[in-house]
Amino acid sequence: MAGRIPQSFIDELIARSDIVEIINARLPLKKKGREYTACCPFHNEKTPSFTVSETKQFYHCFGCGAHGSVIGFLMDYEHLDFVDAVETLAAEYHLEVPHEQRLNRVGSIKDQKQPLFELLEQASRLYQQQLRQSNKAIDYLKQRGLSGEIAKRYRLGYAPDSWSFLLDKLGDNPGNIKQLKTTGMVVEKSATKRYDRFRDRIMFPILDRRGHTIAFGGRIIDSGEPKYLNSPETPIFHKGDELYGFFEARRAVRNLKRIVVVEGYMDVVALAQSGIEYAVASLGTATTREQIQRLFRSVSELIFCYDGDAAGHQAAWRALENALPVLRDGLEARFLFLPDGEDPDSLVRKEGSEAFATRLNNALPLSEYLFDKLKTEIDTNSVDGKARLANAAKPLLAKIPASVFSDLMYERLAQLVGISASKLNDEQPGADTQDAPRPKATFIPDKRQIRQNALRDAIALLLQYPAVAEAREIPDFFATSSLPGYALLYELYQTVKKNPGIPPAAVMERWRDQEEFEILEKLLLRNVYGTEERSGQAKVFSDAVQRLIEKHQRARFEILEHKLERGGLSESELEEYKSLLSR
Ligand code: UTP
Ligand code: MN
Repeated sequence: MAGRIPQSFIDELIARSDIVEIINARLPLKKKGREYTACCPFHNEKTPSFTVSETKQFYHCFGCGAHGSVIGFLMDYEHLDFVDAVETLAAEYHLEVPHEQRLNRVGSIKDQKQPLFELLEQASRLYQQQLRQSNKAIDYLKQRGLSGEIAKRYRLGYAPDSWSFLLDKLGDNPGNIKQLKTTGMVVEKSATKRYDRFRDRIMFPILDRRGHTIAFGGRIIDSGEPKYLNSPETPIFHKGDELYGFFEARRAVRNLKRIVVVEGYMDVVALAQSGIEYAVASLGTATTREQIQRLFRSVSELIFCYDGDAAGHQAAWRALENALPVLRDGLEARFLFLPDGEDPDSLVRKEGSEAFATRLNNALPLSEYLFDKLKTEIDTNSVDGKARLANAAKPLLAKIPASVFSDLMYERLAQLVGISASKLNDEQPGADTQDAPRPKATFIPDKRQIRQNALRDAIALLLQYPAVAEAREIPDFFATSSLPGYALLYELYQTVKKNPGIPPAAVMERWRDQEEFEILEKLLLRNVYGTEERSGQAKVFSDAVQRLIEKHQRARFEILEHKLERGGLSESELEEYKSLLSR
């Protein structure tokens, strides 16, 4: 990756660009009142609920909930990552993207990676060439039912039975040998003893999001150990972040909506051949949160497909746990368990793609899988069992971001154990009563806070009408308040104060990689009652801040009182307590 893009450039880029123009060039918009509309590109619909606001420089779909800034739109619509989206946008306005210099004499990291990509690309071509010349490899793939066409699409290759095939072809100078080692293609035992890692294997190149070859998986022909050999972790390959077949799936399916996550290379390729071109494989490990996050950036539906055996269930449960923190409204995760002894490859050959697609359509929703699994483990007929079910489920549900989905899950649990959802929630951990300022407030509202709107109103107004920052100062103690969201509000306030005239969408970019980003996006769209007029905006903001100050003082008072009862107030705390008491 190149050096960081300076924040000031992103501010400028958003200030200069026009979301209406950018979207309209890709998806014709119709003017309707003050906004622009179209049929939503992120879900199927006949009447337009996708709207673009010129004043907010933000889009929002009332049908599926998709929303974001111009950068977010490019990321989702064109499947770009952040840097690519910024570069695309900059190119439209003929701006050069500056990258902050790293204190690195060898050159930027991008410069260091590029030669490795190129080397693996060459290796991949050589392997593909070898496949075309090897009857043994061709026969093996034929016997496994793969067509030449699909082998070509997935760039399958063959590493010949030689200790020095790549070394001979690509290792003609010390620099190249070093790169072969860095990428794990060559193993070095001693200065004079080195050899090709992959020998006599069918080669599956692993591509990153942009199509660079970053690693390989190699299957032994017929039998032997290990069945699959994989590239080790290298500077360009982090197993837990990548997915086999993701690049190919995005290329094959326009407007990808759904992805099936399977376990094996062969499963991905066999499914693609049978027309299910949207399968990816996690690379021999449990599907990680990073992988799931990455997938959900491109599609709204994931189906995890596993063996029906104990190992399959274990893998599925790990995937479930990793999916929970990532599930926003509008995203769906489901689970499909295959009959004993089958994998997607064998099953799709046996049953055909239609039957397999039917299985996919009937996959278990995450909510059902979660509760079914807990119910099979815990007998819920007794009161005791119900309590245990509640205790087992609560930490899982607590991982889900606050959303309609999370509310429904709590309701479902409440039904199962026979107590009200609000009671369940009251016992939820997370109420912050400790007297320790958190280093950085995480803003994960629980049910109680959802009803407390002062914080949301204040944040929404600062985002939508930055001028309100002039109406009311936010005291410094917000920065270290232990109440959730206060530090976020403070940081937002400081950003707006320091950058007069900054567009809302640019303010938000500062939080893009953080948990708060989604909440900010939602709040940018929040309609705050009584703020149609400018004077109203300032007043509502100022009132909200006042309420927050009072809430903080009440919380402090309780904390100090509690501490006092146990006998330990410092001098300054005692001062604070007295002043709160006299209010
Ligand atoms: P499987 O053993 O289920 O293989 O491993 P498969 O995909 O069905 O392969 P075929 O059909 O026998 O050719 C599933 C995945 O686990 C990883 C690989 O990513 C494989 O695709 N694996 C398996 C390894 O990394 N090493 C191994 O030795 C075995
Ligand atoms: Mn298999």
